[in-house]
Amino acid sequence: MPKPKVFVTRRIAQEALDMIAAAAEMELWHDELPPPRDVLLDKVRNVEGLLSLLTDNVDAELMETGPKLKIVSNFAVGYDNVDITQATQRGILVGNTPGVLTETTADFTFALLLATARRLLEADNYTKKGNWNTWGPMILLGRDIHHATLGIVGCGRIGLEVAKRARGFDMEVIYYSSTRRSPEEEENMGLEFVPSLATLLSRADFVTIHVALTPETHHLISATEFARMKPTAILINAARGPIVDQQALYQALKSGQILAAGLDVTENEPIPLDSPLLTLDNVIIAPHIASASVVTRTKMAVMAAENLIAGLRDEQPPNCVNPEAAEHQR
Ligand code: DGY
Repeated sequence: MPKPKVFVTRRIAQEALDMIAAAAEMELWHDELPPPRDVLLDKVRNVEGLLSLLTDNVDAELMETGPKLKIVSNFAVGYDNVDITQATQRGILVGNTPGVLTETTADFTFALLLATARRLLEADNYTKKGNWNTWGPMILLGRDIHHATLGIVGCGRIGLEVAKRARGFDMEVIYYSSTRRSPEEEENMGLEFVPSLATLLSRADFVTIHVALTPETHHLISATEFARMKPTAILINAARGPIVDQQALYQALKSGQILAAGLDVTENEPIPLDSPLLTLDNVIIAPHIASASVVTRTKMAVMAAENLIAGLRDEQPPNCVNPEAAEHQR
């Protein structure tokens, strides 16, 4: 029996590539940049499996071009780059990588929070530029994290891990979710549920976003929301860029409507070099690396390989976002 063909859109941990190569005839895209659209379309023409990244747009056109596709294994917990409705209708299973990146992403969220509040990058720049002439009682004053109020938007795995870290800093933690309230965690972790996003924004010293990108959460934080925040507030986004209206964010940061922002994600990635956000000192922007630890990225790769291989074997992937697609399989 010939092995099924798969296309892997970027180099991932070798352990996972070895697993895939043992189970399938694998073509691997070696470049640092994603395959251009026309190349991606060409590559899926004959494959049964695709291991995609969040930079690959897996839409109806792509699925139409790859009529043999059985499984799309997305190397991420988020899957807003995949048209799940289309995949399900066409009987294509979609896998993702939840759980293994939760703590690593929460760690990085907290790193952004600490770094923006205590102006870490400005301080580093100050030193390296030779501006450190003496100990100064008024230089680089930041905001306290301990005993401040942290507002978590969304109450999923990553939001809860961020809440856990906040407790170690004696923060007051409030959260708002339009989809999930968790009385057990409120009790166990001392979280306070607030009845609206508006309430959260008006009370929080730090606002951190942990919702998925959906049509409902697109530009969830825009000019109206910035107007509700404290002038000393700091916004952290390690979820998806388009949840925040970036133009409104720029205005809010520039005008002093809010104090600072720490971003791991931007509306367009990579952020264009002429983006006005890059001219501001009160924003830290990382290149979407919250899950980027050696161990976590290896676990994600193995999980993505397992999902891919299960789909090729007509089994339900261990982490499948649309198991109902099996009913539509040809
Ligand atoms: C995800 O998994 O969705 C992250 O954004 C990348 O790790």
